[in-house]
Parts: sequence; structure tokens; C-alpha cells
Amino acid sequence: MTTPYVSWPREVGDLRLRVPTSHDVDRVLAWRNEPEVTRWLLRTTLDADELRAAWRSSLDDPYDQRILADLDGAVVASASLGVDDGMGQPGSDAWRRAEGSLGYLVDPAYAGRGIATAVAGALLDVAFTDLGLHRVTAGCFAANEASWRVMEKLGMRREQHGVRDSWHDELGWVDGYTYAILAEEWAGPPPVGAAD
Ligand SMILES: CC(C)(COP(=O)(O)OP(=O)(O)OC[C@H]1O[C@@H](n2cnc3c(N)ncnc32)[C@H](O)[C@@H]1OP(=O)(O)O)[C@@H](O)C(=O)NCCC(=O)NCCS
Repeated sequence: MTTPYVSWPREVGDLRLRVPTSHDVDRVLAWRNEPEVTRWLLRTTLDADELRAAWRSSLDDPYDQRILADLDGAVVASASLGVDDGMGQPGSDAWRRAEGSLGYLVDPAYAGRGIATAVAGALLDVAFTDLGLHRVTAGCFAANEASWRVMEKLGMRREQHGVRDSWHDELGWVDGYTYAILAEEWAGPPPVGAAD
């Protein structure tokens, strides 16, 4: 199998999606570690070294996409698409590097403007068009309605409602959702409404 190549930057409406640089670390952490963001995450507070190392290691790996979104000179969102093997029997390699895992974060100051939908839609398009994946999944706490609405706007299907399957530091055991979409279900990125 040839190694795929994913080119950045890309424009989505007024957003410019690009790979991160070390200059972005402090700008992203300024909002990434705010309680209104971390309360919805499994990996809560990140430090600068961890973030820098993750970005650096992803640069040469098409199966570890990590991008930022710029809007009017600000870094307003961060998103990732990791790729793993799916499940499968040994008679074929079809399941190898077949399944993507999507994540996204938006600076709370820019929430509710369609930015997560635009950025996650761009990564789903990378997943199916550039990387040829079979399926992409994403998970969230069930109470994170803004997040699962993003997934539903993108055509993803709720496949699992895990009853009290996730530990939350303030709330204890809480419900989680897993969403998924298949390549043949992907209708392309939604019309751009981001940052209008
Ligand atoms: C979840 C998050 C990514 C959404 O980003 P966003 O740019 O505001 O998302 P969008 O504007 O594209 O869409 C959000 C949708 O949820 C709705 N929404 C926003 N806040 C909501 C809330 N508190 N309750 C219910 N719906 C809400 C919006 O109205 C919108 O739906 P609509 O277009 O049908 O009106 C962002 O709030 C965030 O980063 N939160 C903290 C980290 C996080 O939760 N990341 C995801 C982890 S799974």
C-alpha cells in the first residue's frame, strides 16, 4: 500500500486549516486548558511539552492528523484524526488502517458559530477522500450536547450509549456516546456556515 499524503493548509469558508507549529502552543493552551473545555474531555489538562511532542510526532505521519483553525488572526480550534486497524480476520488486509478516530476542540470565545462542524467535516473528508478509510468514530460524554450535535450534523450515527461507562472527575460515573460514519455514508463536507 502506498503511503497517502494529505496537504495543508485548506480553506473552509473563513477558516484556514493548517498544521500546528511550536509558536501555537501557548496560544492554544490559553483556551485548551480552560475548565469549560476540559470538563468535556478525557485528557483534561495538557502541558506545553506534551502538546509540542504530539504535534511534532504527527508531522510526518499521515495517519496522525493534527490541525488548527485560524480565523481573523486567532487560533480558534484544534482537531485530530488518528487511524488504527479495524477488526478483521487474517484473510485480507482490508481492515488494516481502516478506522479513524476524530476529535475536536473550539475556543469557547468562538463557540456556536459552526466552527467545530466545519473543522470536523474537513477531517472526515480527509479520512474518506485522502486516506481511504472505511469508518470513522468519535466519542463524547452524553451530556455534551454541543459535541454530539456536531456529529449528527455531519451525518454520524449514534452507535453506542454507554451507561455510566465514563469516569468524570466532578460528576463520577456518567454516560457516554459513540458515533460513527462509513465511507459510503459520507456525503461530503456540509455547506460552509462557519464563522459567518
Ligand atoms: C463541543 C464543541 C466542539 C462545539 O463547537 P462549536 O464550534 O460550538 O460547534 P458548532 O457551532 O459547529 O455546533 C454546535 C451545535 O451544538 C449546539 N449547542 C451549542 N451549545 C449547546 C448546548 N450547551 N446545549 C445544546 N446544544 C448546544 C449549537 O446550537 C450547534 O447546533 P446547531 O447548529 O444545530 O444550532 C465546543 O463547544 C468545544 O470545544 N467544547 C469543549 C470541548 C469539547 O467538548 N470537545 C468535544 C469533545 S467530545
